[in-house]
Amino acid sequence: MAEYTETNGAKHFELEATAGETVFKPGRATATWGFNGSHLGPTIRARRGDDLRFTIRNHLDETTSVHWHGAHLPPEADGGPHQAIEPHGTWEPEWTVDQPATMLWYHPHPHGNTARHVYRGLAGLILIDDDAGDGLNLPREYGVDDVPLIVQDKNFDGDGQLEENDTFMSAVGIVGKEILVNGTYGPYFEASTRKLRLRILNGSNSRLYNFAFSDLREFSVIGSDGGLLAEPHRTDRIILSPAERTDIVVDLEPGETIQLQSLPVDIDFGFVYNRSHGMDDHLDVLEIRAADELSDSPDLPGSLTEIESLSAAAATAERSFRLSGMSTINGESMDMNRIDFGARVDTVEQWTVRNGNEFTHNFHVHDVQFQVASIDGEAPPPPLAGWKDTVLLVPGRDYRLLMRFSQYTDPDFPYMYHCHILKHEDSGMMGQFVVLGEGEEVGTVPEMAAHG
Ligand code: C2O
Ligand code: CU
Ligand code: CU
Repeated sequence: MAEYTETNGAKHFELEATAGETVFKPGRATATWGFNGSHLGPTIRARRGDDLRFTIRNHLDETTSVHWHGAHLPPEADGGPHQAIEPHGTWEPEWTVDQPATMLWYHPHPHGNTARHVYRGLAGLILIDDDAGDGLNLPREYGVDDVPLIVQDKNFDGDGQLEENDTFMSAVGIVGKEILVNGTYGPYFEASTRKLRLRILNGSNSRLYNFAFSDLREFSVIGSDGGLLAEPHRTDRIILSPAERTDIVVDLEPGETIQLQSLPVDIDFGFVYNRSHGMDDHLDVLEIRAADELSDSPDLPGSLTEIESLSAAAATAERSFRLSGMSTINGESMDMNRIDFGARVDTVEQWTVRNGNEFTHNFHVHDVQFQVASIDGEAPPPPLAGWKDTVLLVPGRDYRLLMRFSQYTDPDFPYMYHCHILKHEDSGMMGQFVVLGEGEEVGTVPEMAAHG
């Protein structure tokens, strides 16, 4: 957990991006990057209403950035490609937390280099609490019965170094054979409670996971990217694409050992594609060892939160996005100097997003949490029925998303939307939008929007 100091009522965190070495397997040091350490970063814990302030120092020899994925904040604080932090430079964003309790994450977003920076280890979590969440009696003792899991895949070469090439027919970038959880290879967790809450982040560059327990026991899904679901949903598996999160609660028996695994992803992306991109893999993710005596946990509440449902009828603009190949949205690749459109502040928009081919793509929008209103006209499955900032796009289906823009930008300070398969994002499968006031026109990105 990250330490902070109070400055003028704000929680002030410091993050130092540094290069170092990490021992994943005994006797082998691997060159890695991390925040305040050699790999990954500390968990930032904040409450709704908190003023947050960060001092971020880049000790690397290349430009990076720190993006707060899923956070509702002004574009100046967003940490996208325009908020580059030069080598040995400093960046000090601040914002007020104004969104429901959930788990977000942070990671670099330097244009064209995101995949490599994340893969080397630059990523961390942000846990947001609020009064409504505290009132629910959910498991919430960090590291005891409320355990965040950053799930990532890596390949190591013969010298134990990270394999960064993805030469083998890779339309998606690196698909690792080795799974790390919170940076640990071959991880296990010693559980001491009857109910265990796992907040899982797919922090991988491109791999999809289909999380399930080794005996296919059911568990309860209680939250998604942007907060709690309206009610717990019972299932025995859940698919997460890169950057998506899920919040689940599983019941344990004293003395048992079970595995959290990833089953083959039962979506047909085409035969070659499924095999060469890990969709058919069956992986062990985390061993859970329950103590011989477990302390009791309260039952899950039958209802968790009220989710205001955004209405398509209220949408004042409709847009459509087609992701195709490895690098385009609506036929165009990202251009740092092109703002694709302007939304209006305090309006709801409906976006129809489609994966135009048999590659994996997903879709992420900065600043907002959206609702998946329908998939090919059907209501979304319950795990996708809450607040989302990233959604997997099964090829050939229309995903109708509804979102409200409440943060004014200004005409030339954009947010991003993009595929979160990091190789695709780096190759240009990304666009930029601003959120304007009445009568304002989309501007141009100033040449030096980046600050050191
Ligand atoms: Cu997690 Cu624009 O990114
Ligand atoms: Cu983001
Ligand atoms: Cu993609």
